[in-house]
Amino acid sequence: MIRFDKKNNLFILETPNTSYIIAVIDSFYLGHIYYGKKLSSEDADALIRLSRADIAHGVPSVNKRDKVGFLDNYPMEYSFAGTGDFREACIDVTAENGDQGLELHYDSYKIYPGKNALTDLPSVRGCEKCCDSLDIILKDDVLSLKVILTYSVYKDSDAITRSVKIINESSETLHLTKALSACMDIDMQGGKILTLHGAWGREREITEVEALPGAVVAESKRGKSSAEENPFIALLSDKADFDNGEVYAMNFVYSGNFLAKAARDQSDKVRMVMGIHPFHFNWELRSNESFQTPECVLVYSDKGLNGMSHCFHDLYREHLIPEKWAHAEKPVLINNWEATLTNFNKDILVDFAKEASKLGLDMLVMDDGWFGNRFDDNRALGDWYVNEEKLPGGLKALSEEINKAGLKFGIWVEPEMINEDSDLYRAHPDWAFHLKGREKNLGRNQCVLDLTREEVWNGVYSQIKTSLSSGNIAYVKWDMNRALTDVASLALPAEKQGEVFHRFVLAVYRMQNALLADFPDILLENCSSGGGRFDPAMLYYSPQIWTSDNTDAIERLSIQEGTALVYPMSTMGAHVADCPSFATGRTTDFETRADVAMAGTFGYELDIRNIKDEEKELIPDQIKRFRIVNPIIRDGDYYRIASYRKNRFYDCWESVTKDKEKAIFTFVEIHAESNKPSRKIRFKGLNPNKEYTLSVLHDGRARKKGENASGLDGLKAHGSTLMNAGIIINRMSDFKSLQILLH
Ligand code: DGJ
Repeated sequence: MIRFDKKNNLFILETPNTSYIIAVIDSFYLGHIYYGKKLSSEDADALIRLSRADIAHGVPSVNKRDKVGFLDNYPMEYSFAGTGDFREACIDVTAENGDQGLELHYDSYKIYPGKNALTDLPSVRGCEKCCDSLDIILKDDVLSLKVILTYSVYKDSDAITRSVKIINESSETLHLTKALSACMDIDMQGGKILTLHGAWGREREITEVEALPGAVVAESKRGKSSAEENPFIALLSDKADFDNGEVYAMNFVYSGNFLAKAARDQSDKVRMVMGIHPFHFNWELRSNESFQTPECVLVYSDKGLNGMSHCFHDLYREHLIPEKWAHAEKPVLINNWEATLTNFNKDILVDFAKEASKLGLDMLVMDDGWFGNRFDDNRALGDWYVNEEKLPGGLKALSEEINKAGLKFGIWVEPEMINEDSDLYRAHPDWAFHLKGREKNLGRNQCVLDLTREEVWNGVYSQIKTSLSSGNIAYVKWDMNRALTDVASLALPAEKQGEVFHRFVLAVYRMQNALLADFPDILLENCSSGGGRFDPAMLYYSPQIWTSDNTDAIERLSIQEGTALVYPMSTMGAHVADCPSFATGRTTDFETRADVAMAGTFGYELDIRNIKDEEKELIPDQIKRFRIVNPIIRDGDYYRIASYRKNRFYDCWESVTKDKEKAIFTFVEIHAESNKPSRKIRFKGLNPNKEYTLSVLHDGRARKKGENASGLDGLKAHGSTLMNAGIIINRMSDFKSLQILLH
């Protein structure tokens, strides 16, 4: 899968359907010469293209000193700053004497089976049987700096992972001011750049702009991957759509500040880079110390966005998400947050559990408000001991009662934060991040703990561990409700303050690792004011992430479409909430809310004691449907068919089992129109030669249970017919949905 072509000095990385080729140019620089559909690799040397005048002129062996023409035009594998490549650099270094910049040349390589885990960082998992890796060693002789570029390719995936290790082999202290993880110089004329832009309650909106000269940037300087941008960027060919065209995508396995940038250069190539944001980043690298960058995942698809999604979903399900959960059915839960906020007590929760149990749910999750003096969101973060006034007998008594009612029990925590009104703050006011001489900056009334300090980390984690050990807890929701500001650590000297943002993220990873090591059976769900930290690094620890606080079924369609573009459906926390929606004021059908939530992990977030009887009656059947559709959605291939983001009228998607025996199709009407021809929908991904039966599981048009209002129930047709001729979906009405099982 990876080989070195000695004759032409080429590294050839092959996945089942793609080739990625790197060349040692003129025995010196490392150039990127091809990424795309699989090539006949014998021809690869033809791609080196040194005959172009502007490039050839600067090749070191031709003109030793005038290298700018080459460095600023040639597609580079890992760009460096200050010596002639004026496009975006991946690395920049300041020497002890203040000189800035570097020039990396090729030194050596190593190819080996398997993949090494990254020190202190989550990364896509590897094994000797499933992947091979390549280390390319680059050096800067003046700085005595060694840079190891690591690539891994998998037998069962078209994705390629990349990371970089930077080692100071000099006797001096260097400062890394930029250390990105990957660069791709792509030859593409025209095209579009796709990012997942957003905000709280509007996470991961698919945003496409033309790839004109100039740059498109997705970035976070918030200390978390953020709702505002996702660590993802893709370059699409002009006509690319759901199923056709080329897509080059990068996704960052990291949860902190990131930079993702795509910029068309002067010779019409697009340089894409991804890595830790250089904002407030300055890593002191003493003699013999090293710095490990997080990992970046590259995907090339010539089958449009659906092809790209399949590649990310499969890689993450097989090699990233904790193995025990990757294909497991998750509990259908009831979460009390939207119903009660922090105003609950043991009796209320036990009543929730009893009612939920009767209706067939699996778990009760007690959200924010169980600890310290937490009667509202102004206080008590940091005091991770139970509030006995609300929960007499503590978590032990509560979990016993919930279990007795027939449900598992889950709990909410927010370990990274502290309120000024808390016992922890009164004891350790200096534990919160702050800048000397400035008043602490609050966000949602809270400060961020300096978890990079050992005593702070221990002080928080030991409390959480004690509480989690005190009851029978099956699930933890780990929340994070503000961005980082005032980032400075009392434990580090001035010259190391540029390390704090990254050290904070490492401390969070360390705590999630510790939690899973101490409580291996716990199902962890990450969350950050909704979907503010939905990234592959979080998926390494938690197989599901709360997708958004916006639980309005219609808004959720585009949030879930954007999320599922990259992340497996099985990872999207999705609940049926009460109406009118607190987020939009909109009222939607209870069944539509369920059909939309079934695209993710599925649960309820409402006052289950007090919802309308006719809604309550629907719940057992919804859970029954969930158990039918979830294995298909969880383990199958996801296909986007239509998007209301684009057409404004309706939305639909489908999941097909890997053996193509079954598929589940969901359609939601957004805006019904009068006297419009009915919609023709073509299914995707079916076996053309197989006959399928359509079973309508839920029909939003039916006036009574069992009515075949769509006329589709029981229809039989071959995959070729369903995929080419398609079916007609009659007008329903606004916010109604249709769910069909094909088998
Ligand atoms: C934000 C989360 O997204 C909500 O689900 C809830 O857990 C609140 N925080 C609690 O403070």
